[in-house]
Amino acid sequence: MRINIAGELSIHSGDLILVNQKYPYAEEKQAELVHVGGKYILMKKLAAGQLNDLMEKISSWDSIEPVSGWRSFAEQQKIWDDSIQENGAEFTQKYVAVPGHSEHQTGLAIDLGVKSPDIDFICPDFPYDGICQEFRKRAAGFGFTERYPKGKELVTGIGHEPWHFRYVGIPHAEIMTKNGFVLEEYIEFLKEFSCENNFVYETEKFVFEIYFVPLGRESEISSVNLRNFEYSVSGNNADGFIVTMWRSK
Ligand code: DAL
Ligand code: ZN
Repeated sequence: MRINIAGELSIHSGDLILVNQKYPYAEEKQAELVHVGGKYILMKKLAAGQLNDLMEKISSWDSIEPVSGWRSFAEQQKIWDDSIQENGAEFTQKYVAVPGHSEHQTGLAIDLGVKSPDIDFICPDFPYDGICQEFRKRAAGFGFTERYPKGKELVTGIGHEPWHFRYVGIPHAEIMTKNGFVLEEYIEFLKEFSCENNFVYETEKFVFEIYFVPLGRESEISSVNLRNFEYSVSGNNADGFIVTMWRSK
């Protein structure tokens, strides 16, 4: 079997899109959004399902609260404007993405806080112990990565945000966590791999093969021989596509 989907692809769509100061959110089609945990907070369907499964697995719905999920451009603009007024430019640039450049606009990001009557909307409390740390430890297994860790501020362009998680999918979150990559670094790392030289990653049950296809060379996606693999393709929102293939062992 061969992949033949190059015609439907956009580098601006998929679970691995990089949205930061350099690369604005540019997906043309609004993805299907669903409520998270029966609340008014929205996320992309697959990400919401995985978040729900993780929260149920660790029985954390009573103690962890989703604080902010999908945001429209207008909402991000309002958060930015209000924060400039209330907190000043330095704080705002550290903790609020420039409107148009927020991961929250993708529907793949979620801010979480410890349940309390008074949760801070921009910087919710999500400590490195207790149930929050339990969530963090298991997040990669459900496709989530802590997006703005301490020490990577110069790479991400955002301050340390213990509360902000980004869905990138399985097995990408696990590979990122094991290697200490933030998304900027992971996207660069994957560029070392091509359709002739895949990155191979094995879990107990699956073999994954992952590679990068530069924009303009989409034929390298459609010409791949899938053997017994299933596959998915994501744009990186910068300069190409990431192909993920997998089969059970
Ligand atoms: N707090 C993150 C960086 C955002 O506003 O998207
Ligand atoms: Zn956030």
